[in-house]
Amino acid sequence: MIRKKAFCLLMPVLCCIVFFSCNSCKSEEPEHNVIFLGFSQIGAESAWRNCNTRSVQEAAAQPGIQLVYFNAAQKQENQIKAIRSFIASQVDVIAFVPIVSEGWKNVLEEARDAGIPVLICDREINLDDESLYAGYLGTDMVQEGRSAAEYLIKKFFNPPGEDSIIVPDNPIRIVELRGTEGSSPAVNRALGFREVLKDYPEFRITYSESGDFLRSMGYELMCKILDDEDIGDMDVLFSHNDSMTLGALDAMRERGIRPGIDIVIVTIDAEQAAIDALRRGEVNCVVECNPKQGPDIMSLAFRLARGEPIPRIIHIKEEVFTEWDDLSQLPPRGY
Ligand code: AHR
Repeated sequence: MIRKKAFCLLMPVLCCIVFFSCNSCKSEEPEHNVIFLGFSQIGAESAWRNCNTRSVQEAAAQPGIQLVYFNAAQKQENQIKAIRSFIASQVDVIAFVPIVSEGWKNVLEEARDAGIPVLICDREINLDDESLYAGYLGTDMVQEGRSAAEYLIKKFFNPPGEDSIIVPDNPIRIVELRGTEGSSPAVNRALGFREVLKDYPEFRITYSESGDFLRSMGYELMCKILDDEDIGDMDVLFSHNDSMTLGALDAMRERGIRPGIDIVIVTIDAEQAAIDALRRGEVNCVVECNPKQGPDIMSLAFRLARGEPIPRIIHIKEEVFTEWDDLSQLPPRGY
């Protein structure tokens, strides 16, 4: 079902609020071969996010796709406006990264009433009526939290090179920097982390606060935490993304603390800067969250435009990198 004509008529209106990655409506492709994909991105809060955007835009630069890209500048209301504009212009498929999990019912009902299939990308949503979207493509964020906890169990109880299990004398105090409140990565990473640690009473989460996935917040929060006598004395930092981790490392170094030695650092994303810090010994474990989702989004968009069903959930493969790994052959991350 291709709606190119209506889209061209409405293009002047859309130009006021969206940036078009397509050059024009006059595609070289035969009309029935081109699909219009409306894509609403959260913003540009991290190197991870910028890579995710690049991946989508590069994958869309292929014959048969016209991408209508909208950057929501971290506001759900902007995403809802963008989705409404996609509906008004009758795109063939809508894909979006929901900044938070709640609050999508009305606009998705509007998409359903307009007969436009919706693909949820990267972050998940909470809806009673799951038929309001076709499927979810992204990473397994509960597993990312579990992987972070599994690393800690190995680190404190059974590190490589030790013959026997170590039983720590004192509680292992963990400070957690969470992602954006109400977002699925923040909820699911915290969930997976606690699910694994609940069987290990030796670990104690002594402090947990949202740093909104921002480097500046990671720095500010870590300054506040380290200046507080009660919570500043920690054994582990578990940070929900590399941006916040890098800010927190700055705060530690400023106070003469050696991250990776005095405090065990576990972070999620696997940006190049975090891998470099792992190589330097300033980070102990990096759990990958793979941002390169563009090619999969495009192939699912083609299937949806043809009216084909897609799997409800597709998880992209990810790795875990630790201080015990040989990283000499690891290719540049690209983000
Ligand atoms: O939704 C994925 C998360 O969003 C990434 O971990 C983080 O870096 C980004 O801002």
